[in-house]
Amino acid sequence: MRSFNHSIEIHKLLKTREYKNLGLVPTMGSLHKGHVKLIEKCSMECDESIVSIFVNPTQFNDKIDLANYPQSIKKDIELIRKINPSAIIYNPMESDLFTSPAKAENFDLDGIDKIIEGKYRKGHFQGVATIVKILFEKFSPNLAFFGEKDYQQVLVVRKLIKKCNLDVKIKTISTVREKSGLAMSSRNFLLKKDTRYNAKIIYESLCIAKKMIKTHDFDKIKDFINNLFLLDKKFHLEYFYIVESTSLKEVTSFNPDVKIRAFICARFQKTRLIDNIPLN
Ligand code: PAF
Repeated sequence: MRSFNHSIEIHKLLKTREYKNLGLVPTMGSLHKGHVKLIEKCSMECDESIVSIFVNPTQFNDKIDLANYPQSIKKDIELIRKINPSAIIYNPMESDLFTSPAKAENFDLDGIDKIIEGKYRKGHFQGVATIVKILFEKFSPNLAFFGEKDYQQVLVVRKLIKKCNLDVKIKTISTVREKSGLAMSSRNFLLKKDTRYNAKIIYESLCIAKKMIKTHDFDKIKDFINNLFLLDKKFHLEYFYIVESTSLKEVTSFNPDVKIRAFICARFQKTRLIDNIPLN
């Protein structure tokens, strides 16, 4: 199965196939084991799968970040073929998705796009919502698959579906990690081997927070994690939040009846890495 640059070709192909459930795995390429799991899950749960590969400019608030985003299209296509030889691969040009110049829509997402990661990457989630809506409207998938590494993104997409009355169900997979604990991310490819290993401090911090959560003030936990990063020679802590799991509003003390999560972002030079885990 070759890859398609035009959605029209995919529509033609889909007309010739009989299926009950169409699954979509939206990606920006540079595929890793997290993507492998998403594509496997999609292929198991759906009798027709589309994997899209498109580095969406509207979700990048930083032009250098966009220019540096890793790409490995040939390898990606080979990998998808290995996982599911009949998966449809959509690798469009910008003009198949946007009228020029590509611009994010402006959605009312009840502010979920403006906190945590949205605070540090202005407009990022509006860009994500824009491309996800375009893909949903183009292919009308029954199911779409996302990773919990981008937990806030999952909530943004759920909000988008509700606000725009889109008829698609979201399925998630838990975060896939390297041996060191580091969450799999295409951005890990930007790091040299030793730095990539040092990046384990990100997941370690989350695990420490989880251990401390019942016995320490949240301020103390945050101080502890701040200090860990101050002592670290490589990674700079951009943020660490403890929030309620569905509203993502910050919480200041432990209540066993309220589900909470920790969110973290740390940076090595220009490379930002994010992660999150449930704390209870
Ligand atoms: O998670 C990603 O890779 C991207 O944000 C997505 C969902 C493919 C939209 O460009």
